[in-house]
Amino acid sequence: MSVKIKNSSTGNKLTTFLVFIVLTSFALLPACKQTAVIPADPHQMVVSTHPAASKVGFDILKEGGNAFDAAIAVQFALAVVYPRAGNIGGGGFAVFHEANGRNGALDFREVAPISAFPKLYYEEENRVNYQASLIGSYAVGVPGTVDGMWKMHVKKGKLDWRQLIQPAINLAEKGVILTEQEAAHMNEYSRIIDSVSISPTVFGTKHWKAGDLFIQTDLANTLKLIRDNGREGFYDGPTADKLIRTIKIRHGIMRKNDLQRYTSVWRDALKGYYKDYTIITMPPPSAGGVMLLQMLFGADFLNIDKKGFNSTDYLHYLIEIQRRTYADRAEFFGDPDFNFVPVDKLLSPLFLEKKYKDIGPLATPSSAINPSTKVSIESFETTHFSVVDRWGNAVAITTTLNGNYGSKLVADGAGFLLNNEMNDFTIEIGKANQFGMVGGKMNEIVGGKRMLSNMTPTIIMKDKDLYAVLGTPGGSTIPTVVMQAAMNIMAFNMSMQAAVSAPKIHSQWMPDEVYYDQSLSPAVVDSLKKLGHIMKYTPLGKLNCIKRLPDGTLQGGTDTLKSDGSIMGD
Ligand code: DON
Repeated sequence: MSVKIKNSSTGNKLTTFLVFIVLTSFALLPACKQTAVIPADPHQMVVSTHPAASKVGFDILKEGGNAFDAAIAVQFALAVVYPRAGNIGGGGFAVFHEANGRNGALDFREVAPISAFPKLYYEEENRVNYQASLIGSYAVGVPGTVDGMWKMHVKKGKLDWRQLIQPAINLAEKGVILTEQEAAHMNEYSRIIDSVSISPTVFGTKHWKAGDLFIQTDLANTLKLIRDNGREGFYDGPTADKLIRTIKIRHGIMRKNDLQRYTSVWRDALKGYYKDYTIITMPPPSAGGVMLLQMLFGADFLNIDKKGFNSTDYLHYLIEIQRRTYADRAEFFGDPDFNFVPVDKLLSPLFLEKKYKDIGPLATPSSAINPSTKVSIESFETTHFSVVDRWGNAVAITTTLNGNYGSKLVADGAGFLLNNEMNDFTIEIGKANQFGMVGGKMNEIVGGKRMLSNMTPTIIMKDKDLYAVLGTPGGSTIPTVVMQAAMNIMAFNMSMQAAVSAPKIHSQWMPDEVYYDQSLSPAVVDSLKKLGHIMKYTPLGKLNCIKRLPDGTLQGGTDTLKSDGSIMGD
């Protein structure tokens, strides 16, 4: 290993499942969740889903770090304090805006192991083992997070790499005080984690309660290797050995050369417009950014903001725009390094006007919309965080293990959970997987290929100035939730917190249902039913966002109902 450490200044079942997950989460809510350190006029801010992670990022900003430094530190801290989604064994996307006017994206999405193939989960010609794409070694994509963070540090960072990783090591070594939510989640999942993993894990050591100190010694040691050796501390040496040993003992297909050849990719951010605003968002292999821009086009084209915020009329048109947008997802999207994704066509006014122009006053049954394939809703186990520094650099990162605690497989002796991102590929061509997702050919499994995503980290500019940093978890609901948060600030001039807290709706074409937040007015829900929409209650989004006011001060917005979301700024 030789790495230089930088020291310089550089349908029904589905709904039941979903409601169960969500209601379980609600039942576990702590009495007091939000931690905020926000004086009157903050000019630098971190908003994440955990107070300890926000504090780590905020401290880095105070120590003179830029938004990239803070984002790296938050990513590693979340791997310790929010292990169900924060990760070093997963992947994600970053979208950024720099004070010098440049925008960009970093794709640190997982890839399929090189020996994977389209029918990886077929046991026989007509028998597919779906479970294997969700739980255990076969579900694991080659992790991208550490490579992504290292690349970001080398190109955009200001502080020493060690300084960015040390706070996460401290949290793992000295322990983090569990919130009620974290304790409850660990109790719920520790048994399956222990049964999938090779040795008893730290998650299963006791029955956890709020206030317990959660110490992760193995993870601390792995983080030390990453601190001291950079990228190679994960993809080579003892960490790689432990990861691959775990996979081999569990008969998986990932090998050391998969780790060695993994590389995150700088991509041009996708750019679009809504009225006076410029939207900078994630390109493929996420479908999220394109769908966000498509929906904003539809909203502008049909002037739905004139119908009044969350009125029946507004929501009806929004639902119709959403279902037409999602109907195209599986046909057109896949890894752009393996397939041609016709982004220009998908965003061309001609294509979009045709798509949205026939929207009328009544619900269109989804079956009447000509589609290719279906998508699904997933549980809320990804996480998004937003950072703005005092110089005006902004970073939006959505990062994930995919499911709650990913594949449930812990890299033995290394203390971190491995993702189950392989389930985001088409598992069985033409058929829905257990979450209702029907995969298309564009997203079939190929060794080295990235699986399709919905994650939509997004930055909005107004008159060349930074205006907002947005993002949320929520699987297939991510693009619609980000779109509504964006509409709330752009079209309805809401504060960031109001935009985050406002009730949202989600239609994804199939199943032919509309999901709505509990706080949506019952009268509006009834009126939408009368128009022919099949309405189902499901909480939507766990947004962590920042809005910048014209005088340069920042507003944070976080989900205080469903998470321990935390805004820190000064
Ligand atoms: O990349 C994706 O779209 C999914 N793996 C994200 C999963 C997710 O958001 C789950 N819950 N919030």
